[in-house]
Order: sequence, then C-alpha cells, then structure tokens
Amino acid sequence: MLQLQDPSLLETRAFIGGAWIARDTQIDVRNPVSGRVIAQVSDCAAADATLAIDLAYAAQPVWAALTAGERADFLRRWHDLVVQNADDLALILTAEMGKPLAEARSEILYGAGYIAWYAEEARRIYGEILPPHRSDMRLLVLRQPVGVVGAITPWNFPNAMIARKLAPALAAGCAVVAKPAAETPLSSLALGMLAMRAGLPAGVLSILPSTDAQGIGQEFCQNPKLRKISFTGSTNVGRILMAQAAGQIKKLSLELGGNAPFIVFDDADLDAAVQGCIQSKFRNAGQTCVCTNRIYVQDSIHDAFVNKLVTAVKKLRTGDVPDYEIGPLISEAAIAKVQAHVADACAKGAQLRCGGTRLEGQFFAPTVLTEMTGLMDMSSQESFGPLAAVFRFSTEKEVVAASNDTEFGLASYVYTKDMNRIWRMMEALEHGMVGVNTGLISTEVAPFGGIKQSGLGREGSRHGIEDYVDLKYACMRIDPQ
Ligand code: SIN
Repeated sequence: MLQLQDPSLLETRAFIGGAWIARDTQIDVRNPVSGRVIAQVSDCAAADATLAIDLAYAAQPVWAALTAGERADFLRRWHDLVVQNADDLALILTAEMGKPLAEARSEILYGAGYIAWYAEEARRIYGEILPPHRSDMRLLVLRQPVGVVGAITPWNFPNAMIARKLAPALAAGCAVVAKPAAETPLSSLALGMLAMRAGLPAGVLSILPSTDAQGIGQEFCQNPKLRKISFTGSTNVGRILMAQAAGQIKKLSLELGGNAPFIVFDDADLDAAVQGCIQSKFRNAGQTCVCTNRIYVQDSIHDAFVNKLVTAVKKLRTGDVPDYEIGPLISEAAIAKVQAHVADACAKGAQLRCGGTRLEGQFFAPTVLTEMTGLMDMSSQESFGPLAAVFRFSTEKEVVAASNDTEFGLASYVYTKDMNRIWRMMEALEHGMVGVNTGLISTEVAPFGGIKQSGLGREGSRHGIEDYVDLKYACMRIDPQ
C-alpha cells in the first residue's frame, strides 16, 4: 500500500459533477514494475459521459459569469494545493505509471506550472476595438469561452497532460469532462480532489476513468452540448476523433505523435550534445511525444559522438532497483514494439552498440543502434521506448531533407555553434518546436504543439488560451452627428 501523508488523495471513485461516485465495474490499475494491482477504480460507461456533459452544460454559464479574477483565484488556490501535496502526488504517479520518483515529482511541478500560468492568463483574455471601416460604425471583438470541453489524456504524463488542458479551459470559463487513460486514472482523480478542495463549483469538472475509450470518445463527438475536444495521444486516434467530430464541426485541439530528429553538426559541443541527447531520448524511458526518435550525426564527428553516447547510456541505472533512472515501459505491447524495432533495424544492417534486450518485468535496456538507414521502421515510426538510433549525414541540405521526410512535425533538436546555421535550421525544420543546443524544451511558458500530422492547436503560453475561446465580432452602428 502507498504510504501517503494524505491517504484521501488516493481516490478510486469517478468524479461526476462534483460528487464522488462508485461504479460496479472496476479497472485494475497495475504498477508497471511489480505488475501488481495497486487500486481498483470505477470504470465509467458512455452514459456517465452523457450525465457529466449535462451537468457541465448547466454549470458552465455560471462559471463563465464569474469575474476573471475569481476564476484566477480558484486556479491559484488549486496550484498551491498541488504544490503542497507534490510528494503524495508523485508517489501516486510513480505507482501507477512507473517513472522514477524524481521524474514524477518534476512532472507534478511541471503540471502545476500550467495551473499557475493560466491563473495569470485568466485575467488577460482581452477583447479588441477595431478601427472601423465607416465613420458610423464601431467594431468590437469579444473572446468568449467555447463552452463544454471534452479532454482525453494519455498515460505517459498522468498529471501534467490533464493539468495543461484543465487550466486554460477553466481560466477561459469552460466546463470540462475529462477521460484519463485507463492505465493511469489515479493522478487525475487526485487532481480532481484538490480542485474540489480549492473550491471549484460542482459540475464544472468531471473526471471519468474508463476502459471504454471508444464509447466515451463517441459521446464527446456526438453530444451537441459538448463544443470542443482536446486530445493528447496517437495520430491514429486523433484521426478517428477528427472524423467523428466533423459531424458537428467541433473545435479540436490535437497533440499527436512525433518523430523527432536530433541533429548534431560537426562544430557542436559534443559533451553537451550527448547530454542533451540523453535527456531528450531517455526522458520517461523514451515514452514522450517529443522524445528524440532519429539521431543524425555529421560524418566527421560520428564515431566520437557514438563512443561518448554509448558510454553515457551504459551508465543509466535501470531495472527493478529502488533508484532506477530509466523506468519500465507501460505495457507488454510497448515492449513488443521496441523489440520489433530493434529486430527490424538489426535485420536491415544496423549495429547494436549496447542494450537491445528486455530486462526483468517491463524494463528494457537503454539501447544504442548505429548505421541506421531510412529503410528501417524506426526512421518512420515512433518507438516510444529507450532506443537511440543513430544515422550519419554529410551536408546540411541532406539532413534537413531527411528530418522533414516524415508526416509528423512535433519536435526537433539541433546542436551547432554556427549562428547562421541556427537561423537556417530553425526556419527549415518542419516541426512545431525546435530545441537549439538543448534537449529539454517543455515549459508552460511556451506554445507546445505540432504541425503536419502531429496535431492542431497549442498548449501553454498565452497562445494556449486561444484553443478555449471563440472570437465574436460585434458591429455597432452609431449616429456620428
Ligand atoms: C507528451 O509526451 O505528449 C508531452 C511531453 C511534454 O510535455 O514534454
């Protein structure tokens, strides 16, 4: 059993319209290290989504009618409770998802950062007065909440991904019905508990753990009271939601898959590049949409970079030890995908430089592969695991073409000291985010999101609020005298 300072944060009932409701059917939540069931959580049906949407629909206008300052005050109180309970929230997160405790704690603070940011941003949802096209007209633009939002969040960041949807939505005056991943519902329920303690009015937020992702997703798409869907997950599911939401032309935010290139030019600081590569590749055991997927290293420094990378990767602590740095993968399916990628690459001529094997439980040894080519599955598919795949390149033109040769466009990384090249690369890379001489780019301060088939909309920064407001233009005729 988890040793929490506040055991009531381990909530297993669904949060529907301000009440904690138990359902007969239960989801077994397993710890990915031991495989043991750590909690049984109410498994909601599509009918629960209908109920939650009805309650949200009734509560939303009241929430939107509060002053921005009142909504900001709630968000600030919620943020403070999250920070005060960060140790418990991190324990819950690690227990259900497996990431190392230190990483879980930094995720809690990362998620709290979005809540604090949108507490501030709530007060700045300004309208506009436009210079009119006629002297007897006055033109205004109002920014109003979109209404009820359906949020669907993944297992890889069980706290931060829901926080970064709820915070801007609530700041804008929307009500939210959220469905966390069935693997990791406990972190979001704990956040719901803290939101309730911070004084969120009943109905404004519901959190529905469920194994019926399809049923809840369909209800979100088909219920006319719900006006917007915000989804983080795979591109395939994003496509399905987009097609289903087309029936009612719902507003969509989609944060989908990536295939991030990590480019190291021959003038780069090699030690810094290796460190950035480890951070970007092995964060969350490689189970992150912005994780490096293809490492491109220029010819003349290729061998030196690979030697340093292999040395660093071999030092990463993993396996079922108390202070592991690289956590387990989320499921057997995730392990099978990583194994298939290694086998495919090796069969097509890649060199296995370290790792490549499954360890005890759901751990997979951090792996480095070299001599990668564009024919291997890893060049076009996200591995979502601890596989560092190194490709060689000669020229800037060649590496830009290879980096952009993907339907995805989420994150990319470049290491070079040449200022001119930095500008050229920032402009040429067809990815929504570019890390320059850094492997860590995620922050609530900046607009997180992709282009191409990596998604629509942005989360974080002042831009993130736009996904939750509609523009209304008012044209007013006056008597100019
Ligand atoms: C994700 O994997 O979807 C989010 C990662 C991040 O926020 O850095």
